[in-house]
Amino acid sequence: MTSPNSQPIGVFDSGVGGLSVLRALRAELPHERFVYLADSAHAPYGERGDAYVGARTHAITRHLLEQHGIKALVVACNTATAAAIHEVRSRYPALPLVGLEPAIKPALAVTQTGRVGVIGTRGTLTSAKFGKLLAGLQGQAEFVVQPCDGLAHAIERSVDRPVPASPQGTETWDLCERYIEAMGAFGTAAGEMDTLVLGCTHYIFAERDLRTLVGPAVRFIETGEPVARQTRRLLEGAGLLAAPQEQPAAPDLQLYTTGGLPQLQAAARRWLDVPADGCHTVAITSETTETTETTQHSL
Ligand code: DGL
Repeated sequence: MTSPNSQPIGVFDSGVGGLSVLRALRAELPHERFVYLADSAHAPYGERGDAYVGARTHAITRHLLEQHGIKALVVACNTATAAAIHEVRSRYPALPLVGLEPAIKPALAVTQTGRVGVIGTRGTLTSAKFGKLLAGLQGQAEFVVQPCDGLAHAIERSVDRPVPASPQGTETWDLCERYIEAMGAFGTAAGEMDTLVLGCTHYIFAERDLRTLVGPAVRFIETGEPVARQTRRLLEGAGLLAAPQEQPAAPDLQLYTTGGLPQLQAAARRWLDVPADGCHTVAITSETTETTETTQHSL
């Protein structure tokens, strides 16, 4: 019988953004197997509302448990975490579960000017969960919070296009420029924002655009590595870490998308350096457990 320790860890996002978290997870936990699910057919989540995002989160969690027997789940999406993680937790109390939230607390330890920019989806930044987090840090720094409608979607759409020689002139650039300008001055002088929290897992893939706009001195804070360390702690605490000798013959990474396969393949190649034949499509309905998978290939 397969030991629970050798079961995969499920990781999901509205699309390819969560691959930034998966990258950190694979570096931190090299003996683990992972199943990644990009819900690209239903992205972006950020402007859709809690009921929709909650239904998708439940359907995907159930799918990963039933079809892949995951031993833990990483919700690699700030928006889904804000909308639904509390419900997932109460529905599956025994499932080790890690969610993401904009790293505004770690930003406090880094800022020298006391002004911190926070970008994320509308869903995340207007959620009660984020409001509570922000209220808890009131008075410790000034946070400039900017929802970036359309940015995750633009990043998602651009993944299978060639990387342009300069960032300017793309849809992603135009959106980054509009939102960064709306936030005010970035830099290390008094009154400027010297720290930018990337509160959406897609945004690290627009790093070049954002860096060009805010300048070289601004610190970016994202959540991949802390989330990977938290996942390790949780698995350790539950006695569920995979031991090197327990590594089974099954593939160590399977990637699925509910949307276009070329986008996932391009993102996997570009950001994880994994070949296209490790990517598959899957349909997951929100109402029932009915799912359809295409053929599986190992990496
Ligand atoms: N990547 C997701 C997040 O971290 C959401 C992007 C979207 O679908 O709007 O919030």
